[in-house]
Formats: sequence, structure tokens, C-alpha cells
Amino acid sequence: MKALNLILQFLLFLLLFSVHKTVAEGVTPEEAKQLRDEVREMFYHAFDGYMDHAFPLDELRPLSCEGEDTLGGYALTLIDSLDTLALLRDRERFTASVEWIGKNLQFDINKTVSIFETSIRVLGGLLSAHLIASDYATGMGIPSYDNQLLDLAEDLARRLLPAFDTPTGIPFGSVNLKYGVDEHESKITSTAGGGTLTLEFGVLSRLTNDPVFERVTKNAVRGLWARRSKLNLVGAHINVFTGEWTQKDAGIGTSIDSFYEYLLKAYLLFGDEEYLFIFQEAYSAAMHYLYNDPWYVEVNMDSAAIVWPLFNSLQAFWPGLQVLAGDVDPAIRTHTAFFSVWKRYGFTPEGFNLATLSVQHGQKSYPLRPELIESTYWLYKATRDPRYLDAGRDMVASLQYGARCPCGYCHISDVEFHKREDHMESFFLAETVKYLWLLFDLAVGPDNLVENGPYKYIFTTEGHLLPATPQISLVQEHCSYFGAYCNQGDFKHEPHASDVSADSQETNGSRVSGGWVRTGFPLDSSYLEASPVSGLIKGLCPGLTHGQKYGISYLASVDTTHEDNSAKQKDTLVQSHALIVVSDHSANQSLSGDNNDDNVEESSEREPEHDPSQS
Ligand SMILES: *[C@@H]1O[C@H](CO)[C@@H](O)[C@H](O)[C@H]1NC(C)=O
Ligand SMILES: *[C@@H]1O[C@H](CO)[C@@H](O)[C@H](O)[C@H]1NC(C)=O
Ligand SMILES: *[C@@H]1O[C@H](CO)[C@@H](O)[C@H](O)[C@H]1NC(C)=O
Repeated sequence: MKALNLILQFLLFLLLFSVHKTVAEGVTPEEAKQLRDEVREMFYHAFDGYMDHAFPLDELRPLSCEGEDTLGGYALTLIDSLDTLALLRDRERFTASVEWIGKNLQFDINKTVSIFETSIRVLGGLLSAHLIASDYATGMGIPSYDNQLLDLAEDLARRLLPAFDTPTGIPFGSVNLKYGVDEHESKITSTAGGGTLTLEFGVLSRLTNDPVFERVTKNAVRGLWARRSKLNLVGAHINVFTGEWTQKDAGIGTSIDSFYEYLLKAYLLFGDEEYLFIFQEAYSAAMHYLYNDPWYVEVNMDSAAIVWPLFNSLQAFWPGLQVLAGDVDPAIRTHTAFFSVWKRYGFTPEGFNLATLSVQHGQKSYPLRPELIESTYWLYKATRDPRYLDAGRDMVASLQYGARCPCGYCHISDVEFHKREDHMESFFLAETVKYLWLLFDLAVGPDNLVENGPYKYIFTTEGHLLPATPQISLVQEHCSYFGAYCNQGDFKHEPHASDVSADSQETNGSRVSGGWVRTGFPLDSSYLEASPVSGLIKGLCPGLTHGQKYGISYLASVDTTHEDNSAKQKDTLVQSHALIVVSDHSANQSLSGDNNDDNVEESSEREPEHDPSQS
């Protein structure tokens, strides 16, 4: 470990040095504006290329200017582009696209699709566009719109539900949209595959008032978390019948990444503390066992022995997640390290070996991934440090000179030789250009739905925008939450769910079932009685304050360590939108009580319109 640390630090030194050597003039305000408009042009180059040459097939082949079906054969790239169109305020194309999809899409087809990809790309795309088109407060409401996309989303999600019928609650990886789970479907799935469904399904439950979607996806997270190792690490692949890990490499990249992301974001969007508690434990363990400042390694989930000293490009979302969690310092260092790899090749390879300091054999490609750009956006938002604009400019240049193809943008099959490949994943339009555009629009003085819109938006792992509207966020969650935990008879506990027994091993920690419900909440029985503790998502819980609705200020009553946190609060002032949910890396249970003040501020900022619980 020590030797590896030395190597990693030496590597950081080398890479930092090379970055500083080549640093260009900073991005000026006029240049930021030009870059923003250039990114907009990049979007249309690819979007029009798709519409002209590939639509209604799933994805564009940007070199040969043809289309291909890659997921279900239902205009995937169009669905994935909808909320980017809205963000760019392209009313004409947004309206036409929503109308076409409402009329033509159908999911009653004999196709076996990945639950994960279908949920994040199609379900997420439909739901975000629905929430924009159905709401005039977004400035992009469509008069003729009549919930067609929501109906499609519900139909699709019902077709995915059979996959959740497993002994662990963790879903199969794939399902046939017409016939359910295939007879010979693999029982092995990835942690990300089972743990990245809560946002889309949860929003669908809130919008349809049918709790089943939220329940099965939360149950899947519990099923995964119940099988964590003693070190609070999760592996990469698991058997959904036996619950045994078939691949025990713990890491923050491939196969696991968005499991962490959705723990925090489900909490932020829904205010459901169960996710926060799991996130805090999972995050502490990741920072303890996987973080080799500034890199992250993969370790055996039981022994913590290093198995792969490898940077993999999917890890690059992590600094952005850390910004959301309020842990900005390590995010800055890690972003610098990851970006140094980008600078070295012009793109990040899928794998970069930290021991040999070279591109990992067999992992040489850059399939237009957004993760590093996403983190650049979040870090710029948190720090306003102009170096993140410089980084964004480099990324635009790489894409323009290295990846631009006749009809769109091409994957890079080898970052060392910048070889192009005839493929463009739909996430290029959903995420890669979206985050670049947001970065430069923020620098110009933002005028867009995300920064100035009527709601706080949470980005899904596919970059789709989910607003924290009163209907989606919080108020009602606490009702279903109490229904689930304080009145367990109303909540159907699966007999096989081992989450409770697994959790009770540490009764004084912040375990889900180990007593935090009782200690963390100012449980007052009159409040409980006044609440419709039905276990359903219906109904209002009256009397919650803003802070309570955002979850964290529950801790006001138990927090006695306010002084300790004054230093931390100073840091948070520069973070315009960050929530602090991570107080430090040692797994102390003190939680985030440190930032009640910030969160109260945050809440009022987030929800200017009205508060149904107080009206
Ligand atoms: C569904 O599609 C598969 C693969 O394309 C095919 O083998 C099968 O016969 C189809 N099933 C039905 C009932 O059409
Ligand atoms: C939990 O904490 C309380 C008070 O600190 C203590 O009395 C009790 O023994 C602890 N329980 C366990 C199982 O450690
Ligand atoms: C947790 O924090 C409390 C005070 O904040 C301290 O007394 C205790 O020793 C800490 N526990 C651990 C395990 O660090």
C-alpha cells in the first residue's frame, strides 16, 4: 500500500507538472459566450445528423450517416435528447418531438432490454420531458400536451416490473418488454444495474400515485446494501437469487458507480433519510478503503486488498457527486488528477493503469463519455474557479478536432491514435453536450431552466432533469416514510429481506433499522397520529418546516456539536448550491447536523413558490 501510495503521488506530481506546462490563457467572458454557442452548434450538428440519417432508429452512425437499433428500436436518441432541447429553449423541436413520441412510441414489443439502460435513458427521458411539457412554469409547456409521455413511462415501467420478482429483490439485468423475464435470463447483475433505478421509478410513483415502482426499487437497494461486506463495501456483480457476490471487486467506477450516485440523489430529491444513511456509510467506506488521494483503486470488498490500481473513466463522475455531498476538497484534487489523464491523451481512455502509467490494454477507447465534464461543471459551480472553464475549453477542442464526424460525433476507439469509430451513443446528446453547455452558460451569467428555473433540479445518471416539485419531493415522502418504518404493519416486508437482521448488528450506529428512527427524529406521537401513515404515497403530512422537509434539520434536536462546524460552514459559503451531507470521513454517526443553517437557506432558495404543508 505504501509503495503504491508513493507511486500514485509521484504520478500526480508528473501529471500536474505536465498540466501546468501547457496551461493556456484563461477563458474570458466573451470567450465563454462563444464557447457556449459553439456547444449549442455541436448539439445541433449531432441532433440534426441523427434526425436526418438515423431517426427513428435508436442511434446514429455518424461516420457513415446511417442509423442503427441498439436498445429497443424506439427512437432512443430522440427520447434522450428531449430535455436538452428544452434546456436550449428550442420550443419548436421540443414540441414536435414530444408530439411525435406521444403518437408513435409503443412498448408492446418482443424485445429483451436492459433494465438499467431502459430506465435511465428511456424512462428518465420520458419523465423529464413530461415534467417540462406539462408545466408552464418551466417556460416550455406544450398546450396540446395531455400526459402522453407519462402514460408511456408508466406502461414501460410496468413492463420492467417482472424483473424485480427475485428472492433478493434485486432485479434481473434484462427483461422482455412483451413476455417478461426470459427463461434463460442470467441471474447475475451488476450493483449499478440493481441500484440505479430509484430516481426514475420513484418519480413515477409520485406522479401516478402508485407506490409499486418506488417500493420495488427501494427494495432492490436494500437487497444490495444488506449484502455489503463488513467493511461496508459492495462488490461489482451479484447473483439475484442467492445474493452471493460473483465479482467482489469494490470500486467507484465500472459496474458500481451510480449505485453511490443514486443513494445521495434519491435522498436529495425525495428527502428520504434512509438513502442518506446508507449513502453516508457507503461513502465513508469508499473514502476509507478506495481513496488513494487523489486516485481511487479497486479492492476486494472483504479484505480491502488492492486488486486494480486503475483509473477508469466512469470514476470521473465522483468529484461531481462529492460536490453535491459537500465534500469539495478531495473532489478538487481528484478532478485535477483525472483531468491530467485527459490532457495527456486529449480524451480519457476507459482504463488508465496507475502502476504502469499507461493506457490499460483493451481499454483504449473514449466513447464520448460525459463524466469528467459533469464533474467539471459541478466543481465550477461550487468554486467558480476559472480553471474549470479552461478545462471545458480543452474538452470542446478535443471533441471538435478529434471526434467530429460528418453527421455527428464519433467514438474514439483508441485515445493514443485518435482513431474514430462509427458510433454515437445517445448519452452524447443527453449528457456530454448538456453539461458543457451548462458550464459555459453558468460562466456567462446563467439564463436557463436548471440555474434559474422554478425548481431545484436533480440530474439523473443519464443527465435527465428531475425537478423537486412539491409533488415529487419530500412532503409526501415523510408520510410514506413513517408508514414504512413507524408503522411496519403497513409495509410489506419481504420474508427473504435480510436487511433488518443484517442491519441490527450495530445497534448504536446509523443503521437503517438499528434505532436511528427513534433517535434521529423528534418523534412526537401527536404528529404521527396526525399523519396518514398508510404506507402509501398519498396524503399530506401537515406541519413540516422547510428544513424538516429537506430532511436534515431533524438533527437540530440531537446536534450538540455546532461549534465544531464553524470552519466547515465557511467553506460552504462558496458553494452556491451544494448540500453538505458528509461531515467527515471517519464513520462517526454525527451525520450532517453540522449544516442546519445551510440547509435551511438552501431550502428556501429551492422552493420559492409555495409550501403545501403550511397553507
Ligand atoms: C420474440 O423474438 C425472439 C427473438 O427475436 C424470437 O426468437 C421469438 O420467436 C419471438 N417470440 C414471439 C412469440 O414472437
Ligand atoms: C447503545 O448506547 C446506549 C447509550 O449510549 C448504551 O447504554 C447501550 O448499551 C448501547 N447499546 C449497544 C448495543 O451498544
Ligand atoms: C464520534 O464523535 C464523538 C463526539 O463528536 C466522539 O466522542 C466519539 O469518540 C466519536 N466516535 C468515533 C467512533 O469516532
